[in-house]
Amino acid sequence: MSQEQWKSKIGFIFAAAGSAIGLGAIWKFPYVAGTGGGGAFLLIFLLFTLFLGAPLLIGEFLIGRKTKGDAITTYQRIAPNSSWGIVGIIGVVTCFILLSFYSVVGGWIIIYLFEALTGGLTGLSQDQYGMLFGEIIANPLPTLLAQLTFVLLTIIVVAKGVQKGIENASKIMMPALFILFLLIVIRSLSLDGASEGVKFLFVPDFTKLTSETILIALGQAFFTLSLGASAMVTYASYLPKTQNLPRSALSIVLMNIVIAILAGLAIFPGVFSFGLEPNAGPVLIFAVLPAVFSQMGFGMLFFIAFLILFLFAALTSAFSMIEIIVAAMTKKDKSKRKKYTWTIGILIFIVGIPSCLSYGVMSDVLVFDKTIFDLFDYAVSNVLMPLGALLISIFIPLKLSKSELFEEIRLGSHSGKMFFNVWYYLLKYFTPVAIIIVFMDALGLIDKIFG
Ligand code: TRP
Repeated sequence: MSQEQWKSKIGFIFAAAGSAIGLGAIWKFPYVAGTGGGGAFLLIFLLFTLFLGAPLLIGEFLIGRKTKGDAITTYQRIAPNSSWGIVGIIGVVTCFILLSFYSVVGGWIIIYLFEALTGGLTGLSQDQYGMLFGEIIANPLPTLLAQLTFVLLTIIVVAKGVQKGIENASKIMMPALFILFLLIVIRSLSLDGASEGVKFLFVPDFTKLTSETILIALGQAFFTLSLGASAMVTYASYLPKTQNLPRSALSIVLMNIVIAILAGLAIFPGVFSFGLEPNAGPVLIFAVLPAVFSQMGFGMLFFIAFLILFLFAALTSAFSMIEIIVAAMTKKDKSKRKKYTWTIGILIFIVGIPSCLSYGVMSDVLVFDKTIFDLFDYAVSNVLMPLGALLISIFIPLKLSKSELFEEIRLGSHSGKMFFNVWYYLLKYFTPVAIIIVFMDALGLIDKIFG
């Protein structure tokens, strides 16, 4: 049976960028930056993205293309008769839990789209938007239905196979999302008092940084690039040897940074201009954006267009999460794809129900002081992904020789020895050491040892 492949080089970049750019850059970045204190958080997030995220992304690409394996097989092929397959299992579990609450937020977009189309969002005052959203997501039936819709859309596309539709649609939707973001940012920057928001995002106030915020910035860097869960390993396994991996990785990193900053510039001026709080948490963008749009000519039309593109971005990320699980479980056997996609998708929906209800009837159910939604989000973003990333950064230089890696990176690219060395040492030493320090710091161990 022939290996499934992406249709074109640019098609792969769009698919991988589609996995990367999603709720992470658009929804999560503004709210974690808002809670984490703004500018200082952005700075740390950028450093983590460039010095840990980018090398790791190249690393995941390399081993995926080299072995043509799924998340689990890849590790077993490179290190036979070892327990390294566990890294892939962590990835599969991560994607499972991740999609369970990701689809809740995907559902929120669908509900807003429905409300916007049926006129439910017109003529409200700025603070009413926030309240309305709170009421909407507290209502179990519509939110569960919307979450189910999001899961079903994901299942239907992925059950059909990896390439069809996604690549073509991405080529139009991603640039459109970018252009629309520019328009929103222009409007947002011309609001009264917008400069406060810009200052908040760009001027670092290091007094606001805590060990916890640094860990969240690290998790965010991995989250937006879909790293640590072998998602990019799986996507790269569909690649021909002619793809320029470093260039693909760097362009994805760059796009992601740009979208996250645009999201921040779209939100924070509005937050300050309307007198809202930047630390509102996961509801932030849903409370602020409609108010920004309501200040624009043809605002509702633009808002609807934005929601459609936002939904598309979230879906292309969701495709990748379920694809990782399906590919690992079916070992890419096409005859099982449909059945597995449906079974896994429905299970994910069921596991996601408590997260959905966390904003309503289950808001009082706290585990470790967090709602189920927040707990899942925290476990995935700040524990599982950094842990997966740590293991991958140890695995690659341990199990593949420097010359093997150099050969693989040179397939399709003309990377020089110098670039290769920078990449290699960042991955081999800097990444694991940085992750371990951030982990220990968050657990309070650094203070205990040196304090
Ligand atoms: N990068 C995606 C986002 O920012 C999230 C994501 C998609 C992801 N697939 C993943 C994260 C796989 C980890 C693993 O929305």
